[in-house]
Amino acid sequence: MATEEIKNGVFWVGALDWNVRDFHGYSTYKGTTYNAYLIKDEKNVLFDTVKGPFEHEMLHNIREVMNPEDIDYIVVNHVELDHSGYLAEMIKLCKPEKVFCSPMGARAIASHFHDSGDWPLEIVKSGDTLSLGSKTVHFLETKMLHWPDSMFSYIPEEKLLISSDAFGQHWATTERFADELPKGAVFAHAKKYYANILHLFSPNVTKLLKTVADLGLEIDMIAPDHGLIWRSQTADILECYKRWASYDLKKRAVIIYDSMWHSTEKMAKAISNGLREEGVDARILNAKVTHRSDIMVDVMEAKGLILGSSTLNNGILPTMADVCTYITGLRPKKKIGAAFGSFGWSGEGVRHLNLFLEKMDCEILHDGIKVKNVPTVDDFKLLTELGAKIGRDIKKSFE
Ligand code: FEO
Repeated sequence: MATEEIKNGVFWVGALDWNVRDFHGYSTYKGTTYNAYLIKDEKNVLFDTVKGPFEHEMLHNIREVMNPEDIDYIVVNHVELDHSGYLAEMIKLCKPEKVFCSPMGARAIASHFHDSGDWPLEIVKSGDTLSLGSKTVHFLETKMLHWPDSMFSYIPEEKLLISSDAFGQHWATTERFADELPKGAVFAHAKKYYANILHLFSPNVTKLLKTVADLGLEIDMIAPDHGLIWRSQTADILECYKRWASYDLKKRAVIIYDSMWHSTEKMAKAISNGLREEGVDARILNAKVTHRSDIMVDVMEAKGLILGSSTLNNGILPTMADVCTYITGLRPKKKIGAAFGSFGWSGEGVRHLNLFLEKMDCEILHDGIKVKNVPTVDDFKLLTELGAKIGRDIKKSFE
């Protein structure tokens, strides 16, 4: 039986996607799950659906609990197609009395499903409630976490928060609860998910956590739309979200580079030596072999952000353009940085990297170091000094 009763009368009826390897540029190298939840009560309600073509898995799971035709309500917490991929067909199949969504959800439904005009939509806002009989659904709009339409559903009788994309992880497992797997691995997936999906919206996360605290919601389970359900570790994941959302940076630098003939690579190592001399650790990540979404995990918590590229065709290497564009979109904050790179003819690479650092709102400590072809002993000295300077400034920023 794949269906799992996660709380009294509340069932996980989602689907496992073992094979997906990309989610909008995020390397989902362990697959993911599309979680849907079903509450059996006087009124039966389904929370979200799944991505196509996983509908058969979801329907099989629902049928283990009830006939899909017995579903009275559907709650659309989020319209992105990994959760609404089967919504239109589900509405045709079970003919619900009502389909609940946020005000922005109604707009998103209209623009995704052009023949949804006759759906029995009911718009709900933060503070609205829905009685199911013995249980109640409290709606809480969570705009930009991570879409304008996003919404949480809270079931007070079960102290259960159905949290849409927030608190998720992209990890396909047969286990349903986070505490059934090693804690380090689960939190590493949760951190990567935060860095790549929610970091951009950190101010909204902080605001939401305050709202949840102000409302005094008692939560002993958080059921996200992806990955494992938080049960005995709800306080831990809430604390992590609080920390990640507050731009809690570490006394550390990340050096991201790509290199044509290893000169830029040698420069990266010399800079890291200087950082180390000042007692500041660095992670050196080659963009050619490290996925942008894994790089973002290290970027999220590092105070120093140092970018390197050989100059190619008056610009930077395509791998660096990819990574820098991706990181810029996720809006890092409060970082200090510098750029470096080797060149053969004209050497525009460092200028392009500095433009990215500006867009990332970095405090740029140095014009950048460029080296013609192969670094000399003197170049290495300068690079190590640059690393040391960045190290000192990182330390100073923590005083
Ligand atoms: Fe899991 Fe925003 O979709």
